[in-house]
Amino acid sequence: MYESFVKTGHPYKLNEAEDVSPDTGYYPFSSVPSPPSGVAWADVDKVIGGFWWKARFIANDGFIITGTDVQYNLIDSSWTAYHAGEVKPYDCGPCHMTAYKSVGNQEGKPGLIGTWEANGIQCEECHGPGSAHLADAFANEMKIDRSSESCGKCHIRGDVNKIPASGGFIRHHEQWNEMFTTKHAALECIDCHDPHIGLHPDNPDRPQAIKLQCENCHFVEAATFAATTITEHIDSSVTCNDCHMPKAAKSALAAGLYEGDVTSHLWRINTDSTAEMFTPDGKFANGYLTLEFACLKCHTDAEDTKGWAAEYAGDAHNVAATPKKPLISTSISQR
Ligand code: HEC
Ligand code: HEC
Ligand code: HEC
Ligand code: HEC
Ligand code: HEC
Ligand code: HEC
Ligand code: HEC
Repeated sequence: MYESFVKTGHPYKLNEAEDVSPDTGYYPFSSVPSPPSGVAWADVDKVIGGFWWKARFIANDGFIITGTDVQYNLIDSSWTAYHAGEVKPYDCGPCHMTAYKSVGNQEGKPGLIGTWEANGIQCEECHGPGSAHLADAFANEMKIDRSSESCGKCHIRGDVNKIPASGGFIRHHEQWNEMFTTKHAALECIDCHDPHIGLHPDNPDRPQAIKLQCENCHFVEAATFAATTITEHIDSSVTCNDCHMPKAAKSALAAGLYEGDVTSHLWRINTDSTAEMFTPDGKFANGYLTLEFACLKCHTDAEDTKGWAAEYAGDAHNVAATPKKPLISTSISQR
């Protein structure tokens, strides 16, 4: 359990700078090579994240280091801005720590708002005190909360009934807001997820992290998809999640116009060519995936417009002998 858990992101959410630097294999699949330009490791108290998408840095007074090149992005080793010119206390509790209390200042540092027992999300955050002995099957004083709300207290942003967006993407840590609008709200996060096995792309245990595949419940749609008239999708090994769980949310950097870096938990696809992913002011998502996100991140040729996708979307699960639309010949220049 422990060996697997230390390959998940939870325990690395907040880290002491001396553990991160010099990098001696602290993170299982990543490294944070340096603090922002002009800052020495000795001036850094803690590192926020650095496990999957991005890292931010906390100075010795407890305030987050702000500026134009202060956020390290893991995907391309670039540095981008974070609240340049502003003073930002580390008031990110309770989502990044274990046993957070909103009183006082950790280590007496003015910028560290609240106190906590351990950096990152350790066993105790979910299982309560004393879980150091959890590995012992006979120590049964353990709290277990299987509800989506228990995960959703951190995997949320604001009001659960809304899905905040910005810059053409859903914002990150909104898995519960997204799921709440769908029929999957009847499921728990842990129906699909094993919370002790991580999903980092380089984690060798990743195939075991998802306990139930879509096919296990949706055998009808799995069969209709396997027999789709768009046989190219089968030949090219397109998966359920390629269309139903695209990266429509963004944490660090977008990979394209319709591809962020965090997996969406909206699942349902609106096949209408006029459907809009976001409200007119761009501040919220409407609660379904539009065809830009479901199809056009792969179908990038000029003639593959949203209108084109709308003509064919109904064929994704269509098993009629005659496709709803005759196939045209296009190729995918870039995937
Ligand atoms: C106390 C806050 C908190 C709770 C409770 C919580 N998470 Fe997380 N979760 C986080 C944070 C913060 C990260 C980002 C960690 C990082 O990348 O350093 C994360 C990352 C993840 C990841 C991606 C990282 C990986 O290694 O796969 C998954 C999946 C995940 N959480 C699922 C869950 C599930 C399922 C639950 C409920 C059983 C849950 N979380 C409960 C805060 C929380
Ligand atoms: C993000 C929250 C979270 C964290 C952190 C976490 N767990 Fe769990 N754990 C759960 C949930 C939820 C279940 C119930 C899973 C289920 O029923 O599928 C569970 C189940 C278990 C079980 C099985 C109990 C049973 O009777 O089925 C053990 C043992 C366990 N956890 C130990 C640990 C240990 C040890 C750690 C730290 C190394 C840890 N957990 C960290 C959420 C968490
Ligand atoms: C409501 C809970 C919550 C709050 C508040 C919150 N975060 Fe997070 N944060 C998360 C979760 C959950 C994730 C991972 C899942 C995701 O990004 O979709 C995450 C991811 C991150 C990551 C990326 C981690 C990695 O390994 O790539 C950084 C950096 C981060 N948060 C910084 C901050 C900072 C700085 C603040 C405060 C200004 C903050 N967060 C406030 C829940 C929260
Ligand atoms: C534990 C069983 C289970 C698993 C696993 C599961 N689903 Fe579902 N899904 C359901 C149920 C139940 C519904 C609601 C069905 C209904 O009311 O008709 C649903 C509904 C949906 C819907 C319609 C959503 C809406 O709000 O209209 C889509 C799309 C969907 N699932 C896709 C997927 C995909 C893709 C996967 C794999 C990532 C998946 N499901 C995994 C049980 C599951
Ligand atoms: C090429 C993209 C694509 C792939 C791959 C795909 N789907 Fe779909 N799926 C769609 C579209 C588009 C719709 C909505 C139109 C429709 O109902 O046919 C849909 C609808 C659904 C629904 C909702 C049906 C309802 O009644 O609301 C479910 C459930 C579903 N798919 C499950 C799956 C599963 C499971 C897989 C993998 C075996 C899969 N899909 C693969 C595009 C795809
Ligand atoms: C129907 C199944 C299902 C449910 C329910 C579900 N997830 Fe996921 N989740 C997945 C799958 C599948 C992936 C990985 C997609 C991939 O990368 O292929 C994933 C990925 C993630 C990630 C990693 C981020 C990323 O970019 O891949 C986080 C964090 C996460 N889920 C949190 C949650 C939380 C929190 C809940 C409950 C509010 C939840 N999930 C409910 C199937 C599910
Ligand atoms: C993961 C990438 C991916 C996604 C997502 C995807 N496709 Fe495809 N699609 C392919 C590949 C690869 C082919 C076969 C190569 C080709 O035809 O260019 C293909 C072929 C097709 C074809 C047959 C060839 C043609 O251009 O007429 C149609 C129609 C099609 N896709 C429609 C869709 C629709 C509609 C969606 C969204 C509901 C979608 N695809 C989502 C990768 C994808």
